[in-house]
Amino acid sequence: MSWHPHLWHPTTQVASSPAPLAVKQARGCVLELRDGRHLIDAISSWWVTLHGHAEPAIAAAIARQAQELEQVIFANFSHAPAEQLATRLAALTGLERLFFSDNGSTAVEVALKMAWQWWRNQGSARSQLIAFEGAYHGDTFGAMALGDRSIFTAPYDDLLFDVSRISWPHTHWGDHDLETRENKALQELEKALATPTAAVILEPLIQGASGMLMVRPSFLRAVQERVHASGALLIADEVMTGFGRTGALFASQRSGIQPDLIALSKGLTGGFLPMGGTMASERIYQGFISENASQTFFHGHSFTANPLGCAAALASLDLLQQNPERYQQFESRHTPLLEELAQQKAVKRVRCLGTVAAFELDAGSTSYLNPIGKQLQQHCIDQGVYIRPLGNVVYLLPPLSISDGQLQQCYSAIGSGIKALTD
Ligand SMILES: Cc1ncc(COP(=O)(O)O)c(C=O)c1O
Repeated sequence: MSWHPHLWHPTTQVASSPAPLAVKQARGCVLELRDGRHLIDAISSWWVTLHGHAEPAIAAAIARQAQELEQVIFANFSHAPAEQLATRLAALTGLERLFFSDNGSTAVEVALKMAWQWWRNQGSARSQLIAFEGAYHGDTFGAMALGDRSIFTAPYDDLLFDVSRISWPHTHWGDHDLETRENKALQELEKALATPTAAVILEPLIQGASGMLMVRPSFLRAVQERVHASGALLIADEVMTGFGRTGALFASQRSGIQPDLIALSKGLTGGFLPMGGTMASERIYQGFISENASQTFFHGHSFTANPLGCAAALASLDLLQQNPERYQQFESRHTPLLEELAQQKAVKRVRCLGTVAAFELDAGSTSYLNPIGKQLQQHCIDQGVYIRPLGNVVYLLPPLSISDGQLQQCYSAIGSGIKALTD
C-alpha cells in the first residue's frame, strides 16, 4: 500500500511511517484488509468501537433513523432521539443537561466555555484553571491548553493560555510509595486552590493518551472534596473512560465522584458516528438563563444533536444496559493473561482497570517517540493483531465483544514480540 496523493493522515509523520493499511471491511473485533489479511482491533480503533465493528443493532438503528430524519438545525427544533438520549444520560450521569457537539475535543471545549462563562454570568472574575500533569483533552486550542505541554502542542505553545498544573499520582501493580505521591498532589492542589479558581479538569481514573496512567478512586474523592470546598467547578473528561471502559458505566461512578460537567464522546455512539456531548448540572444551566442576551451560551455546531448519532447512541446504551456484565467483568478476563505477561523481565509497571490493560516496556527511554513501540506494533500486525503503543507503553483496550480466544491471541502476539525484541 502506498500513500494516497490526496489524503493527509492524523498524527502521522510520513517521512518515517509505513504507509497505511488498506481496510476493506470490519465486523466484531476483526478488521479485514484489502489484501485479505485479518487483524484483531485490540484498541477499538482509537478507543471508539465499543461493542464491535458493524454491530447489527446499531447499524439497524442508524438505517431506520436515516429514513425518518437524518438532520435538522437544532437551534429552533428538537426531536425525539435527542430528547430520549438526554433523558437517559441525565439519569445515568446525575447531570441534568446535555449539550451536543461533534467529538471529544469539542465536548471539552464546551465544558470549558460553560465553566468560564458561568462564573462571568454571575459577575465573578475567577480566572484560574487547574489541570493535571500528563493530561490530554484534545487537539483544539482550548483542549490543548488544558492538556499538558508535549511534542503535540509544541508548535502552538505561545498561543495556549496558562493552566495551573498538579501532579498525577498514577499507580501500578506492586506500587509502594503511592500515598506519599497522592499526598503531595493533594497539597499542590490545596495550594493552587487558594487562588480563585473557575474549574478543575481531570480524566477520571485513567489518563489515556499520556500512557494509560491510572489513579485510585480514593484520590479522586479527595480531589473532589477540595475542589468543591473551594467553590470551583469539577469537569470530568470521560471521553475515553465513559460507557463502561473502566468497569462501571462511567469512571466518575466507579470513583464515587459527582462532577459538575462531564465531557463524552468516543463510545457515545458505540463508535459508529462522530458525536460529542457535554453533561452539565441544572445549577450551571440556570446560570445562563437571563433577560440579558449576553448571558446566552453562544456556541453551536452545524451537526448539533445529529439524529443519526442520537439513534446510534440510544442503541449503544441499550446494548450496554442489556449486558452490563460485559464491561463489569472485563477486568477479570485481562488479569490472568496480564499476570502471565508480567513474568517477562521487560514488562514493568503493569496496571489494569475495566477493559484497559497496560504496562511499560523497559526499553531505555519513555519518550512517545521511543521506537520499540513501533517495532512491537509491526510484530503484532504480522501476528494478526493491531495495537498502537504510546511510546514504550503497551496497552489493550478491545471492543467488549472480543472473544476469549481473540483476547488470548492479542496477549500471545504481544508476548512473543517482547521476547523477540528484548531477549
Ligand atoms: C480524555 C480525552 N479527551 C479528549 C479527547 C479528544 O477527543 P477527539 O479525538 O474525539 O477530539 C481524547 C482523545 O483521545 C481523550 O482521550
